[in-house]
Amino acid sequence: MSRRELLRAGTGLAVASVMLRPRVSLATAARDYEITPGPGRALLKGEQGGPSTNVWAYNTRIPGPEVRIRQGQPVRMVVENRLEEDTTVHWHGIRLPNAMDGVPGLTQPPIKPGERFVYEFMPPDAGTFWYHPHANSLQQLGRGLAGALIVEEAEPVQVDRDVLWVLADWRLDSDGNIAPGFGNPMEAAMSGRVGNSVTLNGSVPQDQVVRAGERVRLRLINVSLARIMALRFGGHSPVVVAIDGQPCDPHEPDGGRLLLAPAMRLDLIVDMQGEPGRRYAVIDDYYDGLAYQLTSFAYRGEKPLRVNPLDAPLRLPRNPLPEPDLQNAERHEMVLQGGMPSMRNMMGGGKMQGMSGMQGGMAGHGRAIWSINGTSMTGDGHAEMPPLITLKQGRSHYVTMRNETAWWHPMHLHGFSFRVLNRNGAPVLHNQWADTVLLAPKDTVDIAFVADNPGDWMLHCHVTDHQTAGLMTVIRVA
Ligand code: C2O
Ligand code: CU
Ligand code: CU
Repeated sequence: MSRRELLRAGTGLAVASVMLRPRVSLATAARDYEITPGPGRALLKGEQGGPSTNVWAYNTRIPGPEVRIRQGQPVRMVVENRLEEDTTVHWHGIRLPNAMDGVPGLTQPPIKPGERFVYEFMPPDAGTFWYHPHANSLQQLGRGLAGALIVEEAEPVQVDRDVLWVLADWRLDSDGNIAPGFGNPMEAAMSGRVGNSVTLNGSVPQDQVVRAGERVRLRLINVSLARIMALRFGGHSPVVVAIDGQPCDPHEPDGGRLLLAPAMRLDLIVDMQGEPGRRYAVIDDYYDGLAYQLTSFAYRGEKPLRVNPLDAPLRLPRNPLPEPDLQNAERHEMVLQGGMPSMRNMMGGGKMQGMSGMQGGMAGHGRAIWSINGTSMTGDGHAEMPPLITLKQGRSHYVTMRNETAWWHPMHLHGFSFRVLNRNGAPVLHNQWADTVLLAPKDTVDIAFVADNPGDWMLHCHVTDHQTAGLMTVIRVA
């Protein structure tokens, strides 16, 4: 295996899947993984022979290699930068020491071209996570730098197959090149850079071949810059068993619709109860009037693997998350403002809201279009900005987030998973934890967590244009 391949220790096979058999873990003891961001080419437009696209990729693959590690076992991620610009790697959703969090200028110096940085951590939680740069985020993520990070449970739930869908959105021109114009302020004030082609595991989605009667664990990761998805599985009843890697009470989603905003993950259990030989569409209908078929479940003709669904529990083992003490929690409020007041006002040339109240705390480069509690951090958080709030370490904290804007925001906190308690005053069901919570326009969401992990942690919207245009701040735990 060449040096450019990941998984020096021979785990490159982790990407091979064994049909109809439980995935055998290939992760063993502490080991090195090589993650090498650099230029690459990918077929994002379809068939062989079609135009290929210049991308930035981990280990020349789109998406980056699927890294499978084990809960509670130490790993070393050796990152060698072969890009022509600074980068870092952020391990999204992993609770790890602040110095390993991958935020340039905040938790580490940027990794310069040609340099190496070794990330070492021990993932406390099993689940579906991912990794991506935290430098020049719009371009580095938008040109392809993203990969799945799966932390395996010691005792996984019983399924026939463990399947991963890394969903990515690209804006390609007619020649198949990545369109320029990252950071367009008009887009940044609205829904962000939503593209025109969606890939599944790095290529134009093909039929997903399934066998009648099998039970699949389907891990969904949305690595898009801005595209929000709402998936429907025609003829199937997926059960959500984990959100952002954290187990929840197994439940069917409201209206059968799986909302998946940038950075969010869902672990589903799907019993393939369709008919052999038939095809069932998987639709994304998030954007009004822009529904499209993402892929389909294509049943092979053979007879069902079993007649009745597998009679095995769906509930994943709990992760060792500290339960916040809501009675004695400290209370905080975060108000999200800015952006275009609405699509209609924008057409009429309306002014952006929330800008007048913005004072102090402007940091970074680029223009602030959004704010959190009246302050805006822009760019990648390189510049020094005092933390918005300091949370007492070891205490429970209860944070109310109010979205006063006309846009959707998947708000992400580094270093923690938090309980999602209420939405617009109504309790959120199914014991949900998350690291990224999606706020619809005018939503108010209450979250809580124990601030057990000291350091300076980013909190930002994961629509990357929003993040780099001010919907970002730093929370200190000390
Ligand atoms: Cu995926 Cu700052 O995060
Ligand atoms: Cu993160
Ligand atoms: Cu946003």
